[in-house]
Amino acid sequence: MDGNGRWAQKQGHERLFGHNAGAESVRACCEYAVEKKIEYLSLFAFSEENWNRPEEEIAGLMKLMFQSVLGERESFMKNHIKFRVIGDREKLSAELVESIVSVEEETAGNDGMNLIVMLSYSGKWDILRAARHYSEEVLKAYMEGSTPPMLDNDLFSSYLSTCDIPDPDLMIRTGGEQRISNYMLWQCAYTEFYYTDVLWPDFRKNEFDLALKSFNNRERRYGNIK
Ligand code: FPP
Repeated sequence: MDGNGRWAQKQGHERLFGHNAGAESVRACCEYAVEKKIEYLSLFAFSEENWNRPEEEIAGLMKLMFQSVLGERESFMKNHIKFRVIGDREKLSAELVESIVSVEEETAGNDGMNLIVMLSYSGKWDILRAARHYSEEVLKAYMEGSTPPMLDNDLFSSYLSTCDIPDPDLMIRTGGEQRISNYMLWQCAYTEFYYTDVLWPDFRKNEFDLALKSFNNRERRYGNIK
């Protein structure tokens, strides 16, 4: 969700003003995704690298996350949204983790769209965590005298934080950046990419629709031939 800072600065405001406007785009895109019957919508809200930003911006973003999580709980229930956060929770405040867990628990039984917020997440973090987890299993198996499971695509995927979520079909990146920036590195192997210069606070229903239309015109061959 790139471009919040630039959007605010263009109007002579602090970057946080843009993040607040970005939260409105989040709401608009969630509503539209529900309307379009999209089953999974994941949002890259804060990367591991974002911890290097100025303290004030981080504090403002975390406050916004806290307010949004609690503030949207009713709307999640009304729209049957199942809410979940993925990322390194150890870096988040106890108060924020508590709010996340309570909304995750409250919405766990919902059968509508899965809304996944990637917070304090990075693709490399996810892969390293999975590799460590697997090596622990291997060690345990050897210590018990059994044969460790052979590592293949499916087994490795099962160790990732996204193990119960399908790989993304479409990744949308706003704000003119054309990089993956440590997002779901493993999971995006065959994801379609859509880049737009539109800054995230201006990315609403119409822009989302353009991205979906572009996706619907793609031919996905997965390395095969037609
Ligand atoms: C990147 O734009 C945006 C972020 C690091 C924060 C995204 C957060 C929100 C949209 C807040 C609401 C989120 C939820 C899930 C409620 P940038 O700051 O890098 O902007 P720039 O590219 O213009 O510098």
